[in-house]
Amino acid sequence: MKKIGILTSGGDAPGMNAAIRAVTRTALKNGMTVMGVRRGYNGLINGDMVALEIRSVSDIIQRGGTILYTARCDEFRFEEGLQKAKATCIREGIEGLVVIGGDGSFRGAGDLSARGIPCIALPGTIDNDIAMTDYTIGYDTAMNTAMALIDKLRDTTQSHDRCSVVEVMGRHAGHIAVNTGIACGATHIIAEEVPFTVDDVIERIQSTQTTGKHHFIIVVSEGIGNSQEIAKKIEQATGVESRATILGHVQRGGAPTVRDRVVASHMGHYAVELLVNGYSNRVVGMRNGNMVDFDIKEALAMKKSFENDLYRIAMDISF
Ligand code: F6P
Repeated sequence: MKKIGILTSGGDAPGMNAAIRAVTRTALKNGMTVMGVRRGYNGLINGDMVALEIRSVSDIIQRGGTILYTARCDEFRFEEGLQKAKATCIREGIEGLVVIGGDGSFRGAGDLSARGIPCIALPGTIDNDIAMTDYTIGYDTAMNTAMALIDKLRDTTQSHDRCSVVEVMGRHAGHIAVNTGIACGATHIIAEEVPFTVDDVIERIQSTQTTGKHHFIIVVSEGIGNSQEIAKKIEQATGVESRATILGHVQRGGAPTVRDRVVASHMGHYAVELLVNGYSNRVVGMRNGNMVDFDIKEALAMKKSFENDLYRIAMDISF
């Protein structure tokens, strides 16, 4: 293989740049040339790409976001888009592709692999919602960002004897919620994976009030929504002044943590080795600290389990 492409797709995640750097440098070391494809699969369809040299990826390991830009690409879900992308690869001499993104991006990588362009996918999403891997690039940084913000929120919540209902990201997965919830000592954590009623939350607040608690942090996973509504109901039932805070996209930014830089570097290196060894249609992950790879379709069919034990521990110790 003489030339490969790399792209980032879907929502950005801190550590994507570290992965781009690792892929580029590993490929160069193996005597390949590397094209950085811009704005996800759109760049492949439109031929929007730039050659990446050794120094093109200098000074990016510490930067959040992605130097290649990212996007979600509807056109790539259809045959016409896939054929345009394949034609670009053939025209540019791109013989293999590394795709960094979430499960939507994996589907595209599988479809393109099936059309003769070998693709390797890396899990890059703050949500950690991909079943075949214990860890997705960006997850640790996003959680640390959310934790730092919730700590700040606690200062004002405590000063005013209030209740803060904090919504964290995660799409339909509650991993960020349960981990930041436990790390911030939240009074209650609401995640889609655990059945709940607002009455349960109110009851818990009231029971902690009897032991002298005056301020409350309730962490809510994005998929639940309704943070304002939950805050209103808590205020009505308990008399505790309540505010809802949606942390939002700030959780996706910032310098990646050590963990994200290291995992992204490891995964990027591993992805190129797979291409060098003739693999296609694989997604890279990390299980029990080791790199693993799976067929993309198989990986997409897996179901992610939830940290029920961690949730129970949070409920046992934060009151
Ligand atoms: O998948 C990452 C994520 O940040 C989710 O947590 C969130 O639901 C979604 O992306 C937001 O997407 P957008 O950037 O399109 O608003």
